[in-house]
Formats: sequence, C-alpha cells, structure tokens
Amino acid sequence: VPRPGFPLYTTLAGGLGIATKEYNLLPEQDWQVDLDHMESMIDTNTVAIMVNNPSNPCGSVFDEDHIKDIIAIAEKYCLPIIADEIYDHFVFRGSDKIYTPIASLSVNVPVLSCGGLTKRFLVPGWRLGWITIHDRNDVFASAGIRKGLQSLSQVNNKPYEKFQYARRVPAISQCTLRVPDALPNASPRSARNFTQFHSKILEINYFILVFCRESLEPIPLFKEPCQPF
Ligand SMILES: Cc1ncc(COP(=O)(O)O)c(C=O)c1O
Repeated sequence: VPRPGFPLYTTLAGGLGIATKEYNLLPEQDWQVDLDHMESMIDTNTVAIMVNNPSNPCGSVFDEDHIKDIIAIAEKYCLPIIADEIYDHFVFRGSDKIYTPIASLSVNVPVLSCGGLTKRFLVPGWRLGWITIHDRNDVFASAGIRKGLQSLSQVNNKPYEKFQYARRVPAISQCTLRVPDALPNASPRSARNFTQFHSKILEINYFILVFCRESLEPIPLFKEPCQPF
C-alpha cells in the first residue's frame, strides 16, 4: 500500500488478518511511486499491489508512463493490481494532468478497479461502490477471486447515511456554498447532463480545496512539497 496513503487499507486488511507493507511515494516527484522501493517490498508472501490514483492524501495523478512502470513491476512478479480509483477523473482546473485508468494500460496484469459514488457523485452517505474486474486472461476465475468478490459483496455493511448527511451539510455551508445552488439544472440522467453535473461537482471540490488550502497555509507542515493538494 502507498505511504502516505489512505489509512483504512491497513486497518481493514488488519481486521481480516492480512498484513500490508508500505511503499514510498516521492514528494519531490509529484508523489509518484518510488518504483525501486515498491519492488523491494515484494516477497513471496505478496499477493497484490495496491495503487491509489488519483491519490488521497497526495492529490497526485499518475501519467501513462508511470502507470506502465507500475504495471511492469506487477507483471514481473505475477501480481495483480488493486486500483483504488475512487477519485477517477478528479483533475482540477489549471492542471495539465490527465486521468488514466490503470486497467486501460494493462494487457496481462489483472486489475481490480475500485470506484464509488462518494467522490465523483458527491453522495458519501450512500456507501455505494463497485469493483470492476479487468482480467483479459481469466486469471481471477481460476484463482477463486471472482467467487471471493461475490461473497464479499454479500457482507452486510449497513449505511451510515443519516450520520454522514448531518455532518456533510454544516461542513459545506461553512464554505458559504449550498450544493443545490451550485447544481441548478444539472442531473446525471443523460450523458451530456452528466458531464455538466460532474464539472460542477469538480468546481465545488475546487472551491472547498481553495478554502482548505487558504486555511491550512499558515501551518508550516502544509508547505511545499508536502502540500497535500
Ligand atoms: C482513497 C480512498 N479510497 C476509498 C475511500 C472510501 O470511499 P467511501 O466513502 O465510498 O467509503 C476513500 C474515502 O475517503 C478514499 O479517500
């Protein structure tokens, strides 16, 4: 798993008795993966490489060449990639980065791509996500992974909807922005509307980002290159 990274990977894995090892991200290289360090972490017990792109908390968006380098390591050691792509398409205005799904560049390495409604659709309370299986050579089927995923999807993980709703609204209104005002006619029902809808969501996130950045700027820890966004 990446370091710095989303801490729940290790917490949730730990609860299932799965050990995680951390590979470094490089602050001076836009938080790209330290490929040598990643490779050095792999041993005979390694069963998968977890990649988070775009990244929380670093805000990095990997370019194609870097993703290909990661895939090459996975291929060398016959490891699948678990791609947390919950921030898919999150590239803020002014950035020259392009979001590329990891699976789109992989031929032989199986990829489990994780997505959800929380970020792009701004509905964290629904606790709704998905895993897309990219497995051209059907490796997962013979390894029992598909069956495992099906079992996992049947675990009852009850929603925290009311709790999250209560927390979300004051947080947003503090930024003097109300979501319905920002999304007057946009609904994700058609593809064209969806593009508008998503660009407005990006704008809201950008607004919150600027708000947070300005609030955090006086704190030395958040100065470059450690600035998380
Ligand atoms: C990198 C990353 N992955 C996964 C999640 C989980 O998203 P959800 O809110 O759908 O549980 C989050 C939430 O913050 C995240 O930042």
